[in-house]
Amino acid sequence: MDHEFWLERWRTNQIGFHQADFNARLTQHWPTLGLATDARVFVPLCGKSRDMLWLAGAGHAVTGVELSSTAVEAFFAEAGAPHSRRQAGPFAFYDGGRIGIYCGDFFALTEREVAGTAGVFDRGALIALPPAMRRRYAEHLLNILPVGAQSLLLTIEYDQARASGPPFSVQPEEVADLFGARCSVELLERSPTQEMPPRFYVQGIHEAGESTYRIIKER
Ligand SMILES: C[S@@+](CC[C@H](N)C(=O)[O-])C[C@H]1O[C@@H](n2cnc3c(N)ncnc32)[C@H](O)[C@@H]1O
Repeated sequence: MDHEFWLERWRTNQIGFHQADFNARLTQHWPTLGLATDARVFVPLCGKSRDMLWLAGAGHAVTGVELSSTAVEAFFAEAGAPHSRRQAGPFAFYDGGRIGIYCGDFFALTEREVAGTAGVFDRGALIALPPAMRRRYAEHLLNILPVGAQSLLLTIEYDQARASGPPFSVQPEEVADLFGARCSVELLERSPTQEMPPRFYVQGIHEAGESTYRIIKER
């Protein structure tokens, strides 16, 4: 899953992962984190997710990171949100006021870009990545986030032998393995998924689960 894979997906509009509506698990579980309404929130691998609008509407200052400029520009265009663009180190930073998006590689982010982050919303970030990259993703995320930052992590679980990702199946044991040494990990909900990619049916997968976690960085 290299950069070109994702850039090509955006160029050719193969973005079945994009949701027209706010994510139901976000709106249901976000209040559980108990964050201040003006707390700073980070959305890794944000695409053009409208969930950033929901978070900003709740009062948060939102910072996203996304590889594809097509996605970032579509986000602001579709939101009708005025913004400016400037270079910020290896990133193009799109500044829309309450919502700012770093366009570039998540793995190039440093503590500086996510300073003050109190909340993280991960939908389609961890599960977008193959196994070795998931470990690298979790390690990098935990290296740059402030202690105390809380994440709402959404995962999907299915028979990985029947279909390939993305989205990848991520089991609770892996979430514990990736985050458990430095974080408290709490499973908030596990249920049959509402977000099954249509191709899964063709590949013989008729049911899949989804889990929602609250993860707090403790060290
Ligand atoms: C499955 S999509 C999910 C997008 C968004 N979170 C959502 O819910 O709609 C994964 C996104 O991650 C972006 N991406 C993949 N690798 C990345 C990286 N290394 N740095 C920044 N963005 C990346 C892709 O371009 C794509 O938009």
